[in-house]
Amino acid sequence: MIKNIALGLGGVLVIIQFFQIDKIQPEVNPSLDFISLEQPPQEVENLLRSACYDCHSYESEYPWYTNIQPVAWLIDHHIDHSQEYLNFSEWGNYSLSRADHKAEEVIEYTENREMPLWSYRLMHKEAQLTDDQRQLIMDYFADLRVQIQAKQVDANGGESTPDANANSGSD
Ligand code: HEC
Repeated sequence: MIKNIALGLGGVLVIIQFFQIDKIQPEVNPSLDFISLEQPPQEVENLLRSACYDCHSYESEYPWYTNIQPVAWLIDHHIDHSQEYLNFSEWGNYSLSRADHKAEEVIEYTENREMPLWSYRLMHKEAQLTDDQRQLIMDYFADLRVQIQAKQVDANGGESTPDANANSGSD
């Protein structure tokens, strides 16, 4: 009985290996990419690339274990899911109020150590951010928010109108 279950499970594991995930990502358009648009300091760029871009951009690098099911499905889901929330490759398409809101959340998630995801930190040493590195990201995005908000004021003809959607968190 137990032997049959084990054989059955083994068979399933073998079969699911034939279902590989789709690793093809849309091409990165530099005129929309966060790093080419905002040109953060080199250190911030390196941190974003090594700790966030695998999930929050079209520049995901798929490590060897993404060829093994069911791990691959889990990771694929993470990547698709995380791009919906925040996609640095689509930054240029964000409205000012959306960009400001995302920057706010980057600060929040980095401060609370919610990002990068713990499962990712487990497999990626370079994504285990030190306190200094987290501070660097938070300071940078705080500065960025000031710039974005100044642009919003400009766009409103000099008047600062608080955007109703800025804190809706629904997206
Ligand atoms: C392993 C994949 C992965 C990595 C790496 C990762 N994230 Fe995420 N991120 C997610 C997923 C999945 C979500 C979706 C919501 C959740 O699970 O909380 C998310 C959500 C977010 C959100 C919330 C956006 C919103 O609108 O609610 C922010 C902000 C964020 N991540 C920032 C970062 C930053 C900054 C880094 C790098 C320091 C990072 N993430 C690294 C997977 C990842």
